[in-house]
Amino acid sequence: EKTIIKDKLNRPLRDLRISVIDRCNFRCQYCMPADQFGPDFEFLPRSALLTYEEIERVAKIFVKLGVEKLRLTGGEPLLRRDLPTLVEKLSNIEGLSDLALTTNGVLLPKLAPSLRKAGLKRVNVSLDSLDDELFGKINGRGVGTGPVLDGIKAAKQAGLGVKINMVVKKGLNDSEIIPMADYCKKNGLELRYIEFMDVGSTNGWKMDDVVTKRQIYKLLKEHFELEPVDPSYYGEVAKLYRYKDNDVNVGFITSVSESFCSTCTRARLSANGQIFTCLFNGNGQDIRNFMRNGATDEQLAERITAIWNGRMDRYSDERTAETNKNRKKIEMSYIGG
Ligand code: GTP
Ligand code: 5AD
Ligand code: SF4
Ligand code: SF4
Repeated sequence: EKTIIKDKLNRPLRDLRISVIDRCNFRCQYCMPADQFGPDFEFLPRSALLTYEEIERVAKIFVKLGVEKLRLTGGEPLLRRDLPTLVEKLSNIEGLSDLALTTNGVLLPKLAPSLRKAGLKRVNVSLDSLDDELFGKINGRGVGTGPVLDGIKAAKQAGLGVKINMVVKKGLNDSEIIPMADYCKKNGLELRYIEFMDVGSTNGWKMDDVVTKRQIYKLLKEHFELEPVDPSYYGEVAKLYRYKDNDVNVGFITSVSESFCSTCTRARLSANGQIFTCLFNGNGQDIRNFMRNGATDEQLAERITAIWNGRMDRYSDERTAETNKNRKKIEMSYIGG
């Protein structure tokens, strides 16, 4: 039996994004710039991370409170040891309609089959360029596109649904907009262009760096015939279109130019067990210690309900230079996007 809980702006709780680790094998400029996340950066120690049993327990309570969709994120979630074990636990939770994962793809050749077997339905793979040199520069590790493309193939072969995420930054990879569209269209992959966001305080975000949906759409229209696709569920993040000459979708995540807070049904759980009610609200609320100190399922459900009932975040709706300055921020790699 599911309870439906609403926040202060009347938004139901539907999705939970679970970060399983704050580390990554990439150093993408827009997320974990190498000069800020160097060899001395202090990541969470193992003991701080929720165990798989703890994650499963929290997820079950969230599902009772209305969550239908779970997504595993990081950092890079595939760096967490034995991830398929967690996937299997989560896939057995009754009342879920979706179980997905967001990844840079590099470890998919190794892990895709076991993830699929464990019950994962689909993956979103980040890929910002098809040019090896540029991609290596963006990911901060000099890794070419080969390993990611291999990961995408492995995921498809294993029977996982695959979408591609491309963060577009002006002057960096806007030249890749059309090549990426061509590649994804040809290979039957849904590509989502993501507007570069001002998450965290390390990526040097400026409004000038953002390439908006409008600009990308205009460019696409010069090359392809597109028609809009209706959202497939309430609160879908991406705005989707379809190429008229085949059945492939292409979409936009317009966090900057057309915010979607009014239908935001997402809670986030960090790897160390804090609940965040918005990607841009750095005030996490602990449930790990509460749990480790002996809280019952009822008490956990009460605390989560209280957190959701008190939620009034709508950062992207009210994004201005001022709100941007005075906020307590969290890093993308810590909260998982
Ligand atoms: P699907 O379920 O496949 O639609 O996935 P998704 O787009 O919800 O998740 P994914 O992890 O692939 O995220 C794609 C981009 O959307 C990332 O840049 C996320 O940070 C961004 N995103 C996801 N949810 C939110 C949100 O609630 N607010 C904002 N501002 N951005 C979000
Ligand atoms: N703005 C927009 N998207 C970002 N991502 C990481 N950092 C940012 C940012 N500053 C994307 C990644 C990944 C997803 C989880 O979030 O590329 O696809
Ligand atoms: Fe790692 Fe993804 Fe962040 Fe890139 S965007 S540094 S792959 S977590
Ligand atoms: Fe949800 Fe915050 Fe993103 Fe708005 S900015 S859609 S409230 S996570």
